[in-house]
Parts: sequence; structure tokens; C-alpha cells
Amino acid sequence: MKKEIRIFSPGTVSNVSCGFDVLGFCLDHIGDEMVVRITEEKGISITKIEGYDLPFETEKNMAGVSAMALIKDFQPDIGFEIEIYKRIKPGSGIGSSAASAAGSVFAINELLGRPYNKIQLTQFAMKGEAIASQSEHADNLAPAIFGGFVLVKSLDPLEILDLPTPEELYAVIIHPQIEIKTSEARAILPKAISMKEAITQWSNLGSLVHALHTQDYELMRRSLQDVVAEPYRSKLIPHFEEVKQATISAGALGHGISGSGPSMFALAKGESSAIALEKAMREVYQNSEIDFETYVSKVNKEGIKVMTIS
Ligand code: HSE
Repeated sequence: MKKEIRIFSPGTVSNVSCGFDVLGFCLDHIGDEMVVRITEEKGISITKIEGYDLPFETEKNMAGVSAMALIKDFQPDIGFEIEIYKRIKPGSGIGSSAASAAGSVFAINELLGRPYNKIQLTQFAMKGEAIASQSEHADNLAPAIFGGFVLVKSLDPLEILDLPTPEELYAVIIHPQIEIKTSEARAILPKAISMKEAITQWSNLGSLVHALHTQDYELMRRSLQDVVAEPYRSKLIPHFEEVKQATISAGALGHGISGSGPSMFALAKGESSAIALEKAMREVYQNSEIDFETYVSKVNKEGIKVMTIS
């Protein structure tokens, strides 16, 4: 039996403008690392956290809570200790909590010889993710676990559709270094939307899914619009409209809020276009007093990766 595993648990972009709570994709080299080791003592312990200040108490830590859900089901005669090397800032909008919650269950499943499938891992991970957002949703977890673009068709029963990833698609991210809590970004949304908004949103989501299947970049451009969350949440993000105007003028296929923000994402066809979008984003933020990071990433089709196992 393998005793120790090191994994890379990637960041993700959820919602993707028109798919609030149901659509997401996986980023490539932006993510956390975790080491999980078998222990003789039963249970889950978090033994090391580097990068950001997160709770060591298993029941307060997202990686801990999801891991507990898995072992509660599996009842192994062993335990696991978890080291978290956090690179994705909590509250960034690029799936920081999902990377933790999905990473621990993925790693434990590998050490146990893969008794669970990806749907089951997503279910365990949802228990951890729920601590951050105070609601269960899987649009960051499922892309981290499955890779590529995924659509969360339903939560109960959990049904996840693996969508195709167009070859030339790149994501560009700008992460202003402020924190927006998912629970707060959810609380400001209206409880109901109008029929007109609903029709616009489901027409855009349907056509975006079609565009992914047909690699139709121009249809993607016409579909990446959000009339449900962006009008409310964009107010929480400094310079949102300026950055959006800048990326759209620079040729973005679309620009929106990554998850619940403050990160924003733009999609590009091809790497040179992506680099132009990154430059456009940086030019807006360079003139502000807010620190920021930018990333250019291909869509990661693989999801969480095993780095070493022994
Ligand atoms: N779909 C979620 C939201 C993602 O937008 O609130 C954040 O975790």
C-alpha cells in the first residue's frame, strides 16, 4: 500500500458569466500542493499549513471536513495527516476553498486504491466547500476533480457533465489583492430574477455549451454575458467596468467575474491574444493603488494531478 502522496490541486473559474452555480473550468499552473500521509492513528489531522493562515482544527478546515466525510463513509483502519501548501489566496474567486476541499479527498482516494469515483469525491468535497460559502455548490469542485469545462446538471442527485474544451482557448485572470467572502457575495444577490433575465441567461448558457462543442469562438463571444450576478457583484470589484472595457477592446471573447470575485477572468482564442488581454488588464490596475496578480492559463483538461506517490 502506498503511504504518501503529493498532489497539485488547481484553481478554477466558476460561473463563467452565464452559468451561475452550474458551470466552471479548471486552470493550469495556478494551484495548491498538498501532501497526505497514512498514519496508524485513525482520523484526520492537519499537521502543516504554509502560505495562508487557515485553521488547523480538522472540523474547521475545508480539507479536513471533506476528508472526514470520506473516512466516515469508508471507515479505514488507518488515519491520514495532511500538509497544505496554500498558493491560492482564500477569498480570491479562483476556487481556493475548492482546491483544499477537493485535494484532500482526491489524495486519500489515491492512497486507498481509488475506491471512489469522481462524482463521489465531489460529494465528499462539497461538505468542505460548504464551510466557505455556507451553501453547497459544486461549480469549483467539479472542474478541479474532473478537469476541463464541466456543467453541474444537478446537486441531488449529483450529476456532472464533462464538456469539451476548445483547443485554442486561454483564460486570463486578474486577482486584485482584496478579499470578497463568497457568503457575502451570495447574500447581496436578489432572491428572484425576472423572466426576461432568466430567458437571456439560459439562452446564453445553452449557446455557450453549444459553442464549446463546436469550437465556435464567435458564438462564445456572443454568449459570455451575465445578467444574473455580475450587475450586483461587479460593484464590489474596484475598476470592474474599466477592466472589462479594456479586455473587450483588446479582443477578449468575454470578460466576467471569476466565481464570487474579486478575481476577474477573460477568455481568449490563442496565446498571443491572451497575452494582449493580460497587458490590457495590467494597464488599468497599474494606475490604481490596489496590488494585483495576473495569470495566463490554458484550460487544464486533467484536473488535480498526482505529483509523487510512494
Ligand atoms: N457559484 C459560486 C458563486 C461560486 O458564484 O457564489 C463561488 O464559490
